[in-house]
Amino acid sequence: MKGLTYKIENQMKRTKIIDLLAAQPGQEVCAKGWVRSHRGSKNVDFIALNDGSTIKNIQVVADAEKFEEELMKQVTTGACLSVEGQLVESVGSGQAVEIQASKIEVLGQCGADYPMQKKGQSFEYMRQFAHMRLRTNTFGAVMRIRHNMAMAIHTYFHEHGFFYFHTPLITASDCEGAGNMFQVTTKNLYDLKKDENGKIIYDDDFFGEQTSLTVSGQLEGELGATALGAIYTFGPTFRAENSNTPRHLAEFWMIEPEVAFLDQEELMDLEEDFIKYCVRWALDHCQDDLEFLNKMIDKTLIARLQGVLNETFVRLPYTEGIRILQEAIKNGKKFEFPCNWGDDLASEHERYLVEEHFKKPVIMTDYPTAIKSFYMKQNAAQGEGSVGYRGCVAPGPTMQGTDVLFPAIGEIIGGSVREENLDKLQGEIDRRHMDTTHLEWYLDTRRWGSCPHAGFGLGFERLILFVTGMQNIRDVIPFPRTPKNAMF
Ligand code: 4AD
Ligand code: MG
Repeated sequence: MKGLTYKIENQMKRTKIIDLLAAQPGQEVCAKGWVRSHRGSKNVDFIALNDGSTIKNIQVVADAEKFEEELMKQVTTGACLSVEGQLVESVGSGQAVEIQASKIEVLGQCGADYPMQKKGQSFEYMRQFAHMRLRTNTFGAVMRIRHNMAMAIHTYFHEHGFFYFHTPLITASDCEGAGNMFQVTTKNLYDLKKDENGKIIYDDDFFGEQTSLTVSGQLEGELGATALGAIYTFGPTFRAENSNTPRHLAEFWMIEPEVAFLDQEELMDLEEDFIKYCVRWALDHCQDDLEFLNKMIDKTLIARLQGVLNETFVRLPYTEGIRILQEAIKNGKKFEFPCNWGDDLASEHERYLVEEHFKKPVIMTDYPTAIKSFYMKQNAAQGEGSVGYRGCVAPGPTMQGTDVLFPAIGEIIGGSVREENLDKLQGEIDRRHMDTTHLEWYLDTRRWGSCPHAGFGLGFERLILFVTGMQNIRDVIPFPRTPKNAMF
């Protein structure tokens, strides 16, 4: 086997710990990393070293007589070391190889005030040290899985003929129409020019009009899909909603595929196939990290991931979902919020359907028009109501909004078939009294060569929550942005 190391002017090239753990014993190696633990006896010291390449540590064995006591005192939890020595078969259990140290250098000392020193600190406590928590086992595992999920997503779409399409982060339109946007301006906020009605004048602002950070790349994504056939976006998204929940961030990452000629059933197929691919990827590529999280965070994690692969997701019209929820209430089930036809489902309702009633993921479709966005495809009217998926008759107008609801998470995907008919779309825009100044380019897709199309948005951090078993969305992104918090 090829040697792992070579020397440059007496300096050994370091090998990543993930490679050392798989290497043949009997060679000189160099490892660099941070001390996870250091325990010593009279004759020999054991140092667990981790460099982030894997959840696993390499054990460094140091004969007490070979190393100065002063040096060994600096080998504290969190300190950064360079270690050279012989890679040998380990006599202890738990690892195949270890390093019999011949040289130890402390690259960075770490005092007793190191905040990540103690084991078993709460995630809440660690959030105050988001810059240091990355060095813990849990956050290392979560971040490696996060990387792997990004790779899974790009690979999935690349293999399925989707083009990675970049949509702008700064926008003058509001895709979701919810108005929860962060404004972008270079105006002097201490001296704002206003017209006679007290409205701010934006003529002299950087873009000459009011702009914000995007809440979704979908509208531009539709332009891509109706030219390239199938695209996906993968980028940051911003929402100024004041939702202090374990499922909401003010800055999160969203993946938005958009596909020409896709109908409602095919949209559901895509949503289901895509999520299963990501979960399978995690099971195939993140075994060590998942085993760690399964042991330390959630004992049912791996079983739950495998469960999702074996389940066929339920495809459920909203109207049918409301019927099931009301049946449950009749049988004594208590919910905090009402759920009559027309209400937006609360997370308790979504979770009842997914976790208690069906006990598997649910793709819910055909939502009441009033609670969904203007761009969704309208179902055929029938009297006061409408006819939707598989002939389901609703008591009011519905749209082909098609969300995926997941155990422990609630809504993980929000999507829809898009209204491709210009008159119907314009009618909905008028009903909502929307300003179309910034939508004319969007409506052009319906004016020139309109085509049926559909797409969805997956909240990246909600996927990571599901795949890691973590409980709070603040703990699956390196530096969370939430109300009153933009530290680091
Ligand atoms: O359901 P949403 O609002 O859908 C859209 O933005 C569509 N334009 C997507 C599309 O059809 N192309 O958001 C999509 C997903 C949600 O299902 C959720 O997973 C996630 O984005 N999400 C959030 N994740 C974290 N923090 C927030 N504040 C989120 N808001 C939505
Ligand atoms: Mg949604």
